[in-house]
Amino acid sequence: EPHSSVPSSVSSLFVDAQILQKQIDELSSFSDTTAPSVTRVLYTEKDVLARRYVKNLMGLAGLSVREDAVGNIFGRWVGQEPELAAVATGSHIDAIPYSGKYDGVVGVLGAIEAINVLKRSGFKPRRSLEVILFTSEEPTRFGISCLGSRLLAGSENLVKALKTITDSQNISFLDAARSAGYAEDDLSSVFLSKGTYSAFIELHIEQGPILEEEGISIGIVTAIAAPASLKVKFEGNGGHAGAVLMPNRNDAGLAAAELALAVEKHVLESGSIDTVGTMGILELHPGAINSIPSKSHLEIDTRDINEERRNQVIEKIHQSAIRIAKTRGVKLSEFHIINQDPPASSAEEVIEAMETATRELNLTSKLMISRAYHDALFMARLSSMGMIFIPCYKGYSHKPEEFASTQDMSNGVKVLALTLAKLSLQ
Ligand code: GLV
Ligand code: MN
Ligand code: MN
Ligand code: MN
Repeated sequence: EPHSSVPSSVSSLFVDAQILQKQIDELSSFSDTTAPSVTRVLYTEKDVLARRYVKNLMGLAGLSVREDAVGNIFGRWVGQEPELAAVATGSHIDAIPYSGKYDGVVGVLGAIEAINVLKRSGFKPRRSLEVILFTSEEPTRFGISCLGSRLLAGSENLVKALKTITDSQNISFLDAARSAGYAEDDLSSVFLSKGTYSAFIELHIEQGPILEEEGISIGIVTAIAAPASLKVKFEGNGGHAGAVLMPNRNDAGLAAAELALAVEKHVLESGSIDTVGTMGILELHPGAINSIPSKSHLEIDTRDINEERRNQVIEKIHQSAIRIAKTRGVKLSEFHIINQDPPASSAEEVIEAMETATRELNLTSKLMISRAYHDALFMARLSSMGMIFIPCYKGYSHKPEEFASTQDMSNGVKVLALTLAKLSLQ
């Protein structure tokens, strides 16, 4: 069987980098803000168009395409032993407001190109290979990160939450999903069982500066940091900004400001450079210059590679919120932990396959952790997991200046293709 082993010569792996770059550029045009920024939010018209674009590319690559009830999209190349657990790869194409065109997208379009690379080389997979586009890795619309992969890994609580949750325009998740053509079936139909995949590998830009600074081509991820997010609401009496004197106020905006500073303090108290915290959302009601805020709404993101230390920060934030409410005479009307996820480790055998692939391709590599979260965090609950990082300009991400070179993407796709080939034969 001349075609059923790993491509005997790595020189038979040809990435069409020009086409890949063109696809990255085309996909970025499905955006609700103008270039170079990209804004592509779950189930909007632009998201639906971008999904159609990707499904078309999957079809052109000869993959059989399936979508689940929340719009996770699967493109499968059936292997010679289709009854075996498949090897999967993929990422997301949703983009937070005013972000760039590489986050997530490299791991979707790059995965389809990796399949094309293997097909052109004459490779025949033993285990099936599957490309996955995950729904809503970003929490933008409904506040839930990694919605698609979280659900794939099986969460009854999330199914329940999705039945009542609404976005900031009061559109329900189910209505939004239906408007995009999904949510016909029960959401628990999305769950996958543990034996579905033997391995999952995600290709992604580093979103940090290390690879570029050190001039290294490939990052091999050993673990993904533990993310958590919180929603907090304060309520006070509000009132006229001129008429209510300072001693008579209970300003919900100042309670929020004080909590934002407390988040920074508690994060720094951990003493570790690996602990981070951000208040990325702050909304004041009624939001008028001459009205004392009667309501504030904050959302806080905190992460660490050490879960226990991250949990201590959450507990301290909670205690501060209680204390601030008391001393300022406002009501802490909500303190909700939206998610509090454990970290995930890459599997030895996947790390080994990625390292071997990188070596055979004569590329430099480095073991590293991922401080950003990814769908791989949840796929690790279903199967062995690994991630391939490529350098990005100055480590920029979640802003329009995000950039990865065609050469670096091409290297990443090659490593992904060879790793998939190896794991498909295991
Ligand atoms: C995902 O984009 C993250 O915030 O890590
Ligand atoms: Mn992102
Ligand atoms: Mn991403
Ligand atoms: Mn991410």
